[in-house]
Amino acid sequence: GLTASAALARRPSVTGARLRSAVALPPPFRVPLPIPPVLDPVGASDGTDRYEITQREASAEILPGVRTPLWTYEGTFPGPTIESRRGRPVTVTHHNELPVPTVVHLHGGRTPAASDGYPTDLVLPRGRQERPMHTGHGSGHGMRGMHDPRAVVTELTRDYTFPLDQRPTLLWYHDHRMDFTAPAIWRGLAGLHIVRDDAEDALGLPAGPRELPLMIADRAFAADGGLAYPALDPALRERPGVHDPYLGGVLGDVILVNGAPWPVHEVDAARHRLRILNASNARHYELEAVTDDGRRLDLVQIGADQGLLAAPVTHRLLPTAPAERHDVIIDFSGIPVGGRVRLLNRLGSGRTRDVMAFRVARRAADDSRVPRTLSTDLPAWRRSDAVRVRDLSFRAGRMGGGHGWLIGGLPFDPARSDVITRLGDVEVWRLVADVHHPVHLHLVGFRVLSRGGRPPLPHDAGLKDTVSLRPGESAEIITRFDGYRGRYLFHCHNAEHEDMGMMANLEIV
Ligand code: C2O
Ligand code: CU
Repeated sequence: GLTASAALARRPSVTGARLRSAVALPPPFRVPLPIPPVLDPVGASDGTDRYEITQREASAEILPGVRTPLWTYEGTFPGPTIESRRGRPVTVTHHNELPVPTVVHLHGGRTPAASDGYPTDLVLPRGRQERPMHTGHGSGHGMRGMHDPRAVVTELTRDYTFPLDQRPTLLWYHDHRMDFTAPAIWRGLAGLHIVRDDAEDALGLPAGPRELPLMIADRAFAADGGLAYPALDPALRERPGVHDPYLGGVLGDVILVNGAPWPVHEVDAARHRLRILNASNARHYELEAVTDDGRRLDLVQIGADQGLLAAPVTHRLLPTAPAERHDVIIDFSGIPVGGRVRLLNRLGSGRTRDVMAFRVARRAADDSRVPRTLSTDLPAWRRSDAVRVRDLSFRAGRMGGGHGWLIGGLPFDPARSDVITRLGDVEVWRLVADVHHPVHLHLVGFRVLSRGGRPPLPHDAGLKDTVSLRPGESAEIITRFDGYRGRYLFHCHNAEHEDMGMMANLEIV
């Protein structure tokens, strides 16, 4: 049989399971866009806001007329949004009432290692603590590495402390359990966390109802309304040549925004700020905003993963890879009342081409501004600041008798140190990919220095924590490892790749 890499070399844009829903789907742009509820703190002490989140099973009417069982934070998908001020710490106590262990990671957070959600730092389900490793639900991978004694920290409830001493931006929290992240996120374990500060507030950007968080995620649905996900039969995976449904990641045929299928949102004829997160396990999008008469509106990007750009960047087509965030201004003032602007995915076909729509409901005054200078605090590391350069490949390969995804030729092992760096060091990483891999570093933001030997693309602007490597592409990133010492991660954010080995340890000493 073909090795995974040989097969992938032939089909450079290979994707894994493309799941079709077996249930009636609603027409596009009918379901109103939900806005995830903002969570109230349960209290504050010593300048720290305290939150409680219970992880539990719940169901929601995502498709009209059927209930979808979910794994949730506080009963909703997406989970509740946490809103924070820069530098004001937050403690979130997570209670696990799900049938499986979980791990919480605040993606993009500058978080001490103890609260960063290392994949074996488990929050155990109540009543199941005696055999934590055997509560898997059968749709993830094996138990590699679970015997590493230094790695496993288990608790019944867990306080995660987030200093949030970082540039304001849209973060998101999601499950991160070793080998089971992809199915857990698919089942609903994802929510938003917005960090704000006075400087950003003072810019005069669209705000209030004109600021919309948009969590875009694809899913597929079984005939009974349940989420469909490829069941993995370990016996099949051992046989060479058998197609692995995880291989390229899992794609669904229903596009959800904030948990609703192809929603529509009524807007004023004014500027709006769209805080876009691609929370899909594996799907890439190229977003365009198209009017009823076929015109493309500008998508004016003002921020990236790690906050405001130095200056706006205008896109007609905005690519977004799993886990990337794009902060975008769109101006509906030229659209007649009753007119519609559709947000479309140029990489989609059929129903995956549609994402959502905005319907202009009324004319309205607009005193918002998009300043030409958005921020002046972006780190400007230069190549000459770097004390070392590392080469890291992201490629398919053999893993435990089957196919896996490897970094530097190795699958994830919690017992191994992959990158050891010193607190404060600046490094350049040269990343190279065989197929699409969105590469994410925990703790730090980075700048994209180059792509394929050329200057970065317009959507690489600003401070990133996830860089989308395209098939066969290389990119250089630069960062300073500052903040905290400890053991962190970097990995591919195609969630199935991550579960299939494409993750590595980053130790800051
Ligand atoms: Cu969004 Cu390590 O993850
Ligand atoms: Cu990948």
